[in-house]
Amino acid sequence: MASASSLKSALWDLKVRLQFTGWLQYLPNALLALVLGGVAAAGWLIGAFPALLFWMPLALASLLAANLVFDLVTVKLGLRPAERTPARLDHLDAFDLMRARLSCRSFQSRDLSPEHHAELMACVSRQTEPAQQLGHNPIRFEYVASPLTVWPVVGAREFLVAIAPREYDRTAVVDVGRSLQKVVHHATQMGLATCWIGPGADHESILRHLGSRFDTDRDHIICICAVGYASKFKPAVLRLIQRVQRKRLPMAELFFAAPDLGVPLDPEASPFDAFGRCYEVCQWAPSSFNGQTTRCAAVVDEQGRVARFDFFATTHSQFYAPVALGIWLANWEIGCEAAALPGRFEVLGPEQRSVTHAPELPRYDISWICEAG
Ligand SMILES: Cc1cc2nc3c(=O)[nH]c(=O)nc-3n(C[C@H](O)[C@H](O)[C@H](O)COP(=O)(O)O)c2cc1C
Repeated sequence: MASASSLKSALWDLKVRLQFTGWLQYLPNALLALVLGGVAAAGWLIGAFPALLFWMPLALASLLAANLVFDLVTVKLGLRPAERTPARLDHLDAFDLMRARLSCRSFQSRDLSPEHHAELMACVSRQTEPAQQLGHNPIRFEYVASPLTVWPVVGAREFLVAIAPREYDRTAVVDVGRSLQKVVHHATQMGLATCWIGPGADHESILRHLGSRFDTDRDHIICICAVGYASKFKPAVLRLIQRVQRKRLPMAELFFAAPDLGVPLDPEASPFDAFGRCYEVCQWAPSSFNGQTTRCAAVVDEQGRVARFDFFATTHSQFYAPVALGIWLANWEIGCEAAALPGRFEVLGPEQRSVTHAPELPRYDISWICEAG
């Protein structure tokens, strides 16, 4: 029993070491190539069905091995041709821009140009102004130009570290999500690539690089965001992760037409259709592990007009669920602004929402009050 658990912990230590030294990304490919190579060797020894038991596994193992060598040379060793700076996306409207954002997991090995850095930091300053926040506690995004230890992102060398007060304040965590997503949106428009990183960030490495900019008694790191120029060169496993995570829950599981989330909302039916693509950009918002923990319920008034939208979190998570909710709020707000649909965020009490029983989950956080005339 003891040896089983010590083996388990040794394997876990190995996994963490491989993860944070940047080798784990290549392991699935290497293991699969080895297994297929073993099958081909066994097939050769057996001598039966050579096409199936020898040639096919040998061909697949060779392809995987060639891909592994290519990835190691171009990504791990960085021996690859210089790539172009991606073009700005100023021609896209707000909705297409939000859809153009993807989590980038492989970055070019060059720093942001001074112009890009200045524009990004000006946006960071705007988005962290106290007047921009929903809550009263300050948040900030510290810029770090060092290859922090992160997983599974490769090549990232510039980051924004999102910091909220040490004493837990849920609204400050929501503000991190909302404000950082607005920075991400602007970065996307600039042609920059971004990746939110929470569970995959090594806090010790962040603290080491922040140095005196972090006060253990006052500050809490919520997550970080890698920013830079996307690279086309990436380990095969990262391509796979990207493909798997390009999926979202259907609209009917995210938006509802009743305050208790009992009736799915049809975004194309009146009066909800007035909000056009605002639903879609929330559906495609990023969330940790693509958990998609935010829900929204529309409330219609006696005249049949949408009076407000209530936003909820579906888990007890104290950090990643409110961050994801904040990201939704940013996309919702950017969408409403682009569609000229005025409104404001407000936290309503149970009486204002006309609810007698507020369940623990889904947990109500905030409402968007429609202000259209
Ligand atoms: C708060 C937060 C933390 C995240 N942490 C990580 C992470 O540690 N590593 C990573 O590769 N991606 C991370 N992501 C990115 C998500 O995996 C990604 O948003 C999701 O899979 C959807 O894919 P997309 O962003 O390409 O649309 C995080 C996203 C958010 C919002």
